[in-house]
Amino acid sequence: MVKCALISGKGMGIMHGKNFDSNPDAEVVAVCEMDPELLAKAKEEFGVPGYASIEELLENCDAELMLLIVNETRRIPPLRQLIAAGRNVFTEKPLCGLEGQNRVKEEDAAIAAPAIKEWRESDVKFGIDYNYRFFRHFKKLHEDAVEGKFGNIRMVRARAHYACWSHVIDQILWTMGLPEWVSVMGDPSESGGWQRMIHMKWVNGAIGSLDGGEMWGWDDDPLRIMIVGDEGYAEARGLDGWYRRRKAFNSEELELWQVEEGVQEYRESFGRMANAVVECMKEDKPFPADGNDAWNEILFEAAVYRSAVNDGQRVFLRDVEDSVMS
Ligand SMILES: NC(=O)c1ccc[n+]([C@@H]2O[C@H](COP(=O)([O-])OP(=O)(O)OC[C@H]3O[C@@H](n4cnc5c(N)ncnc54)[C@H](O)[C@@H]3O)[C@@H](O)[C@H]2O)c1
Repeated sequence: MVKCALISGKGMGIMHGKNFDSNPDAEVVAVCEMDPELLAKAKEEFGVPGYASIEELLENCDAELMLLIVNETRRIPPLRQLIAAGRNVFTEKPLCGLEGQNRVKEEDAAIAAPAIKEWRESDVKFGIDYNYRFFRHFKKLHEDAVEGKFGNIRMVRARAHYACWSHVIDQILWTMGLPEWVSVMGDPSESGGWQRMIHMKWVNGAIGSLDGGEMWGWDDDPLRIMIVGDEGYAEARGLDGWYRRRKAFNSEELELWQVEEGVQEYRESFGRMANAVVECMKEDKPFPADGNDAWNEILFEAAVYRSAVNDGQRVFLRDVEDSVMS
């Protein structure tokens, strides 16, 4: 039985806690929440002891998996504390964003860097909730791309509403790896989620574009990703579930998949991620998305920020990594 401790008594945390608790091979054995009212509710929800601080939790509970479901504005200190204590951690995305998930800056990568270094030196498992990897349409896109169904990949076209921002980046990086450089139009001094248009290039010559905003995007699927190769191309869209693959050059339709009536991939994906994490704990394997994936998202966003503040300058990701990891 995988013993889990839930850090958070709020909605997102309770949802994750319930998913892990309902897996037959896992159970939530303790909760931790600094807000006394939320702590009392969480204790009642799971029928387990509760603690007001991570220090108390670590002293009193031997859970082997910590569900750290706190916000990106305050994720790094408890994450480092848990890694230092040798506990496996599952957390939410993005890894760090002191001004929130729509405004990740280079400074956030510098704040997150020690946690990643410490994790890499530890033998702790560290997972991040890129749950969109468990949407069947995005999984199809990834698998078809890596299995070579599109031939040589030449281009990626993507866009997303900021509600899906970490995930659209993760999707691109999951399949394509980190690009060599980005060049970005947008003004990070705009309030809220600043509009951005990202161009990128990979070392193998593939090119890509990703644009994001929050003024638009709910009308026609909040995220869409197309991967184009010299033999075929495909697009995956939305929170519900839609995938279409076509032949390159003549656009002949080869496959169309739509989610079953009444099912939404977004809703299902959290439980699928929890089950996969429990499986990895049982089999002693790395988590489905780990600290390296978390780091790649933050590094990409740091490079995007650096390019935008420098008026679209081409920014090489290795240069950003050198400055924030040193
Ligand atoms: N994967 C997805 O599709 C998806 C969807 C929605 C939200 N999210 C992510 O989920 C996260 C949700 O975080 P949130 O806003 O609920 O977090 P939060 O920071 O509000 O923390 C949640 C609860 O934990 C408690 N807490 C925080 N730090 C603590 C500590 N060190 N010790 C004890 N208690 C502590 C807080 O009092 C709070 O009640 C965000 O990062 C968001 O981006 C992901």
